Amino acid sequence: MQITITKAETLKPKPDETQLGFGTIFTDHMFNMDYSNEKGWHNPRIEPHHPFQMDPATMMLHYGQGVFEGLKAYRTESGAIQLFRPKDNFERLNRSSSMLCIPAVDETFALTALKQLLTIEKEWVPHAQETSLYIRPTIIATDPFLGVRASFTYRFFIILSPVGAYYPEGFNPVKILVSKDHVRAVRGGVGEAKTPGNYAASLLAGNKAHDEGYTQVLWLDGVNQEYIEEVGSMNIFFVINDEIITPELNGSILPGITRDSVIRLARTWGMKVIERKISIKEVLKAHTSGTLKEIFGSGTAAVISPVGELKYGDTVISIGGGSVGPISNRLFNAIQDIQYGKAEDVLGWIEPVC
Ligand SMILES: Cc1ncc(COP(=O)(O)O)c(C=O)c1O
Repeated sequence: MQITITKAETLKPKPDETQLGFGTIFTDHMFNMDYSNEKGWHNPRIEPHHPFQMDPATMMLHYGQGVFEGLKAYRTESGAIQLFRPKDNFERLNRSSSMLCIPAVDETFALTALKQLLTIEKEWVPHAQETSLYIRPTIIATDPFLGVRASFTYRFFIILSPVGAYYPEGFNPVKILVSKDHVRAVRGGVGEAKTPGNYAASLLAGNKAHDEGYTQVLWLDGVNQEYIEEVGSMNIFFVINDEIITPELNGSILPGITRDSVIRLARTWGMKVIERKISIKEVLKAHTSGTLKEIFGSGTAAVISPVGELKYGDTVISIGGGSVGPISNRLFNAIQDIQYGKAEDVLGWIEPVC
C-alpha cells in the first residue's frame, strides 16, 4: 500500500526541551488508516495532526472497543533516530486487537508507516539527556451505532509526543500501596490487552493510593487477591536472595516489553530469573527474614522504577533503606544505554529509523 503524504502548511514551534513533561505536546503530523469490511485496511496517509470529527454515537466512545500501544524513538549522540523493539509493540497491538475483536494490521506495514512518519518528524525527537519522542499507535471502533457488537469500521492512527526525562530529580525509589479493595483485571478478562477500559478501571484505586501519599498501586490477582500481578501500569520484579522473581504471565498481566528485556538481559548476565506466582505474604516474609533485597517496576515510560516502601493493610515495609538497589541500577543503565545507542545492541533490539 502506498502511503499518501500531506504536509502541514505551517509548523509549530518546537518546545523548550528542559520543560517537557509527558503527553501534552504533539508533533506536526500523524498517521491515519481506515478499515471497512469491504476494503480491509485502506487509505494509509500521513497528514497534519488534527482533531477527529466523529458522530456522538461512535462505538469507541460507548463500548470502549479500542487498543493502543506505547513506545519511544530515541536520538543517539550522533543524531540518528532509533526505536527499541518496535516489532514487539505491533505484535502486542495485534494480540490486544484479537481480544477486542478488532481486525489485525500488517505489522511490517505498520512499522514502515511509523518509520516514514518519524522521518518527517525527525526534528521533534528531542536532544536533551533522557528525553525521547513518545509514540502512541491506537485503533478505535468507528461505527456510529448504539448496541453492543463489534464495529464494522475502524481507524488506526499514530500520534507523537516529545517527552522529558522520567526522573528529572534523579532516579529515586517510590512508595507503593497494595490495593485490597480493587483489582485491575481478572483471569479470562482483558488484562493482558492494552485496552482503554483497563486504565479506566485503575483510576479509583490510584486516586486512593495518592490520597494516602503513595505513588503507585500494587495490584493483586482478581481471584484470590493474594498473588502479585503488576504495579501501577508497570510489571514488577522482586530480588529475593540472589533470584530475580517476576509474576508469570497468566492472562491478566500485560506482557511488558521492558519486562521481557529485563528477563533476557539479567539472564545474559548469569542471573537467575524466575517467572512464577509470588504472593504478597511471601514478599512480606522475605522482608522479615532479611532476604528481600530489591523491588522494582518495569515499563517503557520509566524503564525501571525502584520501590522503596510498600504498604499492605497496617504493615509498612521499607526496602533498600531509601536508596536504589544495584540490580535496579544496573538494569536501568543497561537498557537506557542500548536505547540511546551508548551500548552495543547485543540482543538485536534496536531498529534504526533515520
Ligand atoms: C498495565 C501495564 N503493565 C505493564 C506495562 C509495561 O509494558 P512495556 O514494558 O511494554 O511498556 C504497561 C505499559 O505499557 C502497562 O500499561
